[in-house]
Amino acid sequence: MDSYERNRERLLTSSRPMPDFKVVGSQGPWLHLAGGTRIFDGSSGLLCTNVGQSSHSVHARIEQQFFRYSFGGAAVVQPHIQMELMERLCHAVGRPDDYVALTTCGTLGVEVAVGLARNITRVRDGKLRGNILTSTLSYHGMSALTLALAGNHARRPRPEDALGLGPGFPAPYPPSHAHKDRACDASCADEIATEIDRRGAENVAAVLIEPVNGTTGGAFVPPDGYLRRVSEICQERDVLVIHDEVLTGMWRTGTPLASHHWDGCEPDMVVLSKGLGAGYTSVGAVLVSPQMARWIRHDDADPLPAMGTMATHPLMAAACLGVLDDLEAMDFTAFTARGDRLAEAMTSLSGIKTVRDVRGLGFLYGVEVAPGQLWPAMKAAQERGMFFYPFTGAGEPKSEGFMVAPPLTSTDDDIEFLTTALSDALNAVS
Ligand SMILES: Cc1ncc(COP(=O)(O)O)c(C=O)c1O
Repeated sequence: MDSYERNRERLLTSSRPMPDFKVVGSQGPWLHLAGGTRIFDGSSGLLCTNVGQSSHSVHARIEQQFFRYSFGGAAVVQPHIQMELMERLCHAVGRPDDYVALTTCGTLGVEVAVGLARNITRVRDGKLRGNILTSTLSYHGMSALTLALAGNHARRPRPEDALGLGPGFPAPYPPSHAHKDRACDASCADEIATEIDRRGAENVAAVLIEPVNGTTGGAFVPPDGYLRRVSEICQERDVLVIHDEVLTGMWRTGTPLASHHWDGCEPDMVVLSKGLGAGYTSVGAVLVSPQMARWIRHDDADPLPAMGTMATHPLMAAACLGVLDDLEAMDFTAFTARGDRLAEAMTSLSGIKTVRDVRGLGFLYGVEVAPGQLWPAMKAAQERGMFFYPFTGAGEPKSEGFMVAPPLTSTDDDIEFLTTALSDALNAVS
């Protein structure tokens, strides 16, 4: 074992049974490797480098802020840059009047949203127990609370670590919700109504849901009308809806928010993270509708669960503004056309023998392969100059596959390379 390998083992971080790359440079979706080759990042890092690597806009914004002042919490320095970010972000995602809490990652965004939902429903409805319902196929972060709440068994294998919480309703996707005589449809949401009623609506603060499934299961898309039905059920029972768009937000699915693909499902709160910092900064943002936010400032409200030393870091805000500069500079007609081409190419992979299923939207897909074929497929992809992030399987036995989610700023040539090489790799292992 050389010293890199020894130290690699001491660094307690996630690893996959594939070699790490020795990266000496980067540009857009490409990582330049020692030795002169390059490799295409087919899953945008951990589904976050949405505007690619080495962005000049992000660099310029960070540099400018660095020399103005590099730290100033909101209680120390007037938070102008954070307010600029709030304005730009709220307009970008079509919720211009929302209130915003900034956090340092997606997990903390979810934690803050949970805290706010409990505060709001205590003041507004007099609810005491603030239960949060999640689906059986969900991931909402790596803190003890978010792991306990969600349905990701790989990340929380021991039932006792659910702290008596755990998911509250089946996700409307085949591996976790099989029906004898029909596919999942909007009526699957009725199980949420049943669960709220079983617990008593007075005990439930919110339903927390990924509008399009992320890496737990691999990009399942809900049946039409499902999210709308979730919103109606919750509204009828004074239960808030929180959309976890940590992974899907900021155009990942082709629209600013994944929920924009359907009518009538605007949530009370949205949590954003990955695509907002786009890998340049750790960040999370909780957007709260003005109708709900007024309860947060109520005289009887509990303290804001949204403060932390680094929560409103000015360099974090600067990096996010640079990401928004890049996103807003995109030619959206070309972006949409490129997304359509990617969708078409992804659908055509379904004809390959080793491919079990391909699902997703916009720039987010899960490719499920035959049992035992994941690592051979990943190896074949790597030999052809690209790599992907594997998803956590669903069902029993667990499915296996990987995420295809290139940076949103990938060019036509990049997408052509990705889809051709991927098809070639999958054919090679079939
Ligand atoms: C849907 C979803 N929610 C929350 C999180 C947690 O975000 P973070 O890893 O930034 O804490 C993730 C991370 O993968 C996610 O995919």
